[in-house]
Amino acid sequence: MAMKLNFLAMLLCLLLASTPNAHASVFDVTSATYGAKPGSDVNTALAKAWSDACGGTFDGQGALSWNQNDCHTNKNCKPLLVNLRFEFLTNSKVQDITSLNSKFFHMHVFRCNHTTFQQLTITAPDESRNTDGIHIGASTAINITHSKIGTGDDCISIGDDSHQITVTDVTCGPGHGINIGSLGKYKEEKDVTGIIVKNCTLTNTENGVRIKTFPDSPSPSTASGIHYEDIIMVNVSNPILIDQLYCPYTQCEQKPPSKVKISNVSFKNIKGSSFTPLAVKLVCTMGIPCENEELTDTDLTYGGNKGPLTSMCSNVKPTITGVTKALGCATSSLAPLPLS
Ligand SMILES: *[C@@H]1O[C@H](CO)[C@@H](O)[C@H](O)[C@H]1NC(C)=O
Ligand SMILES: *[C@@H]1O[C@H](CO)[C@@H](O)[C@H](O)[C@H]1NC(C)=O
Ligand SMILES: *[C@@H]1O[C@H](CO)[C@@H](O)[C@H](O)[C@H]1NC(C)=O
Ligand SMILES: *[C@@H]1O[C@H](CO)[C@@H](O)[C@H](O)[C@H]1NC(C)=O
Ligand SMILES: *[C@@H]1O[C@H](CO)[C@@H](O)[C@H](O)[C@H]1NC(C)=O
Repeated sequence: MAMKLNFLAMLLCLLLASTPNAHASVFDVTSATYGAKPGSDVNTALAKAWSDACGGTFDGQGALSWNQNDCHTNKNCKPLLVNLRFEFLTNSKVQDITSLNSKFFHMHVFRCNHTTFQQLTITAPDESRNTDGIHIGASTAINITHSKIGTGDDCISIGDDSHQITVTDVTCGPGHGINIGSLGKYKEEKDVTGIIVKNCTLTNTENGVRIKTFPDSPSPSTASGIHYEDIIMVNVSNPILIDQLYCPYTQCEQKPPSKVKISNVSFKNIKGSSFTPLAVKLVCTMGIPCENEELTDTDLTYGGNKGPLTSMCSNVKPTITGVTKALGCATSSLAPLPLS
């Protein structure tokens, strides 16, 4: 692991909780014990703190608390602990970390810039709730590469105010796929720009590449310049998905449409198999259609018996090249769709 502190002190708290007695310890690299100083190389301090905290694999022992997560029924649920938080990092590299069975998100990247995450292994069982692999928010120029992520929730999720995020050579599964969003839930969310997802493989995931925005957004925002290329889907339930009617746990029936404007999104060279016949679903928001979308050289198969391979587009007219009719907006409408 190589990390440098910028002039602001980096706060990397390694929180180790829930031994059977459920006590939490904080390993502060800037404390006298470890001696990391702002502006200097913190390798030694961090390595020592890391080894004191866990000696290799960072095990969140989430199985002890997953059944206390009631976020699917309780809007004001108390979030559980995140395995690792990376906040206010600049010009940093995080590598060779194994994160296992977090209680909530595995890694939360917040207000970081010019930082690379590589050779990460992130693992939690399919049925563990909200164990997202890496959640990024309010960050710029972040690369995630050469990593293997399999969890019960999103492998990677990219929240508002994220820019120049590149995800390459990542394998994902099980889990909910590589996601942008959810966007448009909170007041004054900032735009998302410049996302590249390239050379990734998704296996047995609920979604492949997805952009999700809530209806009834309190304020307008945009998501633009999003490019997916060279992606392999293996038995993915919803391989290509824009869902601007995203409403988990049906907490938002009969609400006005999303105010997140999506533009300049391309899907290129996406191959493999879909677990459902509806392999491409682009559902954009009523009144603010998606603009400048492209679907190119994409070929997905469906081997099940629930009907023919198909695709659906709503409030979007992508430029389609090198894609069969079945996958190229086989059904298309500019009419509102009911909330799913
Ligand atoms: C990077 O982040 C630091 C700390 O948050 C901030 O001071 C700096 O302006 C940022 N630089 C860029 C180029 O965004
Ligand atoms: C991230 O990846 C892109 C494309 O490979 C590269 O141009 C950029 O320099 C990388 N950024 C960092 C912070 O490593
Ligand atoms: C694509 O990613 C895989 C790892 O998932 C890697 O082995 C391979 O070299 C990458 N291919 C290219 C062209 O970068
Ligand atoms: C394909 O995905 C479905 C749904 O996630 C799963 O139930 C099924 O076991 C998967 N098939 C294989 C061969 O892994
Ligand atoms: C979308 O792409 C076009 C060029 O294809 C560019 O002119 C425009 O500024 C882009 N819009 C956004 C919001 O990124």
